[in-house]
Amino acid sequence: MLKRVLVTGANAGLGKECARQLADQKGIETIYLGCRNQQKALQAKAELEQVTGKQIFEILLMDVSDTDSVRQAVSQLEQPVDGLVMNAGGSGGYNFKQLTKEGVINIAAVNLLGHVVLINELIKAKRLTQVAVYSGSEGSRGVKEMGMKRPELANYSTEEFISICDGSYFENENDPMVIYNHIKLIGAFWISALARQHPEIKFITMSPGLTAGTQGAETLPVLQKTFMKTMMWLMVLFGKAHRADFGARRYLEGLYNQDLKSGIFYASKKGLSGEIDEQRLIFPALDNEAFQNNARQALHHFIGVLHRG
Ligand SMILES: NC(=O)c1ccc[n+]([C@@H]2O[C@H](COP(=O)([O-])OP(=O)(O)OC[C@H]3O[C@@H](n4cnc5c(N)ncnc54)[C@H](OP(=O)(O)O)[C@@H]3O)[C@@H](O)[C@H]2O)c1
Repeated sequence: MLKRVLVTGANAGLGKECARQLADQKGIETIYLGCRNQQKALQAKAELEQVTGKQIFEILLMDVSDTDSVRQAVSQLEQPVDGLVMNAGGSGGYNFKQLTKEGVINIAAVNLLGHVVLINELIKAKRLTQVAVYSGSEGSRGVKEMGMKRPELANYSTEEFISICDGSYFENENDPMVIYNHIKLIGAFWISALARQHPEIKFITMSPGLTAGTQGAETLPVLQKTFMKTMMWLMVLFGKAHRADFGARRYLEGLYNQDLKSGIFYASKKGLSGEIDEQRLIFPALDNEAFQNNARQALHHFIGVLHRG
C-alpha cells in the first residue's frame, strides 16, 4: 500500500490530474506536489483540496532543471515516499538547447537529469521505499501514424548518450520534439538499468500517451504549437489521443498494477493511445543491458557519480 507519493510537475496537466486521482486511492495519506513555482503550487493545492475534499496535499518546491534545488527538496522530506511519479518535463522552453551548469541542454535537464539526481538522493537518504514511475513517450520508439521516426542511434554508447545530453549530437537539429524523443529514450534505458541495480524498488517507464489539453506544447514555435494542438484535438475526436484523466491513469497503473514488471517501458500498444504494452516487443534494443548501463553512465557523467557496473 502506498501512503506517501511524490509527483513532480504537479501543478498542471498530467501531474495535477495524477495527484487528483491518487487522492482516491486506498491508504494514501500524503501527496507531495513537486513544483517549481510557489504561486502555481499554492493554486494547484487549493484546487486539488477543493475537488477532492481532502487536505492531504503538501508542496515540495523543486525545479527539476536545477540539481541544487532537487537536492534541497529531498533534504526537506521528513518521511520517506513510497511512490514517486517523475512527470515534470516537456519541450524544454524557448531555450531548450541552452546548457545548464552541469553541461546538459535544458530539455535534457528538465526531462531527465533532475530526476536522476532526485532518484539518487532519495535512495541515498532511504527516502524511496516501493515504486518509481518515469514519464516516457511513444516518440522514443517512433510513431509511424504521425510520421515520427524512431531515434536511430549509431551504437548506443556512453559517448553517444553524452553527446545527446550535451546537445553536440544536435548541431544541425533544431526541432525540440526530435531532441525530446532522444532524451526520453535515454530515460527509458536509465530506468531499466536502475531496476537491475535496485531490485528492492520497482521502476517503470510509462508513457501517458498523447494527451490533449495540457500546457505541454505552449513553448513550441508558433506554427508547430498550433499544428500540435489542432492535431491533438482532432485525434481525441477520432480516438487516437485522449484527455488528461486517461493519460494520468497510466501513471497510476505504473504505481499500482502488480502485473507490470520492473525495468520495462510501457506505452501504447499501437499509435499513441489505447491499451499499453511492453515497448521492447516493438523496439528490442530497449532490452539491451549494455545500452541501459551506457545510458546510466552517461547521465552520471554530468553529476559526477562513478559508474558501479
Ligand atoms: N501531453 C502529452 O501528450 C504527453 C505525451 C507523452 C509524454 N508526456 C510527458 O508527460 C509529462 C507531463 O506533460 P504535460 O503534457 O502534462 O505537460 P504540462 O501541462 O506542460 O505540465 C508539465 C508540468 O511540469 C512542470 N515543470 C516543467 N518544468 C519544470 C521544472 N524545471 N521543474 C519542475 N516542474 C517543471 C510544469 O510546471 P510549470 O507550470 O511551472 O511550467 C507543469 O506542472 C511530461 O514529462 C511530458 O513529456 C506528455
